[in-house]
Amino acid sequence: MASPFEILGLDPGADDDEIVEAYRRRVKEVHPDQGGSRESFKTVRDAYEQLMDGDVKTAGGSGPGDASNGGGPTATRGGPRAQSTDPAQQIESHVQYLNYMVLEDNGWELGDENLFGKAARAALDDEDYGEFTVLPHESLLEAAERRGFAWPFACRGGACTNCAVMVVEGDIPTPSWQILPEDLTDRGIRLSCNSSPVTESAKIIYNVKHLPGVDELRLPATRFKKARSDD
Ligand code: FES
Repeated sequence: MASPFEILGLDPGADDDEIVEAYRRRVKEVHPDQGGSRESFKTVRDAYEQLMDGDVKTAGGSGPGDASNGGGPTATRGGPRAQSTDPAQQIESHVQYLNYMVLEDNGWELGDENLFGKAARAALDDEDYGEFTVLPHESLLEAAERRGFAWPFACRGGACTNCAVMVVEGDIPTPSWQILPEDLTDRGIRLSCNSSPVTESAKIIYNVKHLPGVDELRLPATRFKKARSDD
């Protein structure tokens, strides 16, 4: 039976970043929406989770979850940050946000064109609806946190989908190294830990981690040392 390293196409000495990068690549290759199968998807996901749990020793004798490297995955490992050298992404952007939980509570539909108008009239709490500025080189998640909001996240590296948001208006590119397959990015799904607007304004719905398609890719937040998610 293939080892988790073999399933991810890695040498046994691979470090944390290489494991996360390989997982992001393999999960796209075997995702059912990309022509793969549920079995292959599950095999890749199980291999990644085994490595994250430290169940498999690396050549250096330490798995990612080994106590010698902090006892488990950290919240900051696993991928490039949102920053870009692209001048188009070095702008300040005003982002209106809406908590997906509010839609459920009010019986509002995701496709409702007047969603943000309804939110504006609903006297919602600041954490559920409002606007903040995303500074140049800042991710959506970082901007929300700078405002004191506790948006969900786990890996902060584009591998777990706990931080998923949906773009309703504006342009928010998605980096090629993250986990989302094309059908989700086409639906406007982005990962707030690694996405920044390139338009002066944007509207997003955050907390969409349980939407069909996104939820299937989601890794349990409990597996990450510094995660914040109510699951
Ligand atoms: Fe894991 Fe963003 S926090 S993908």
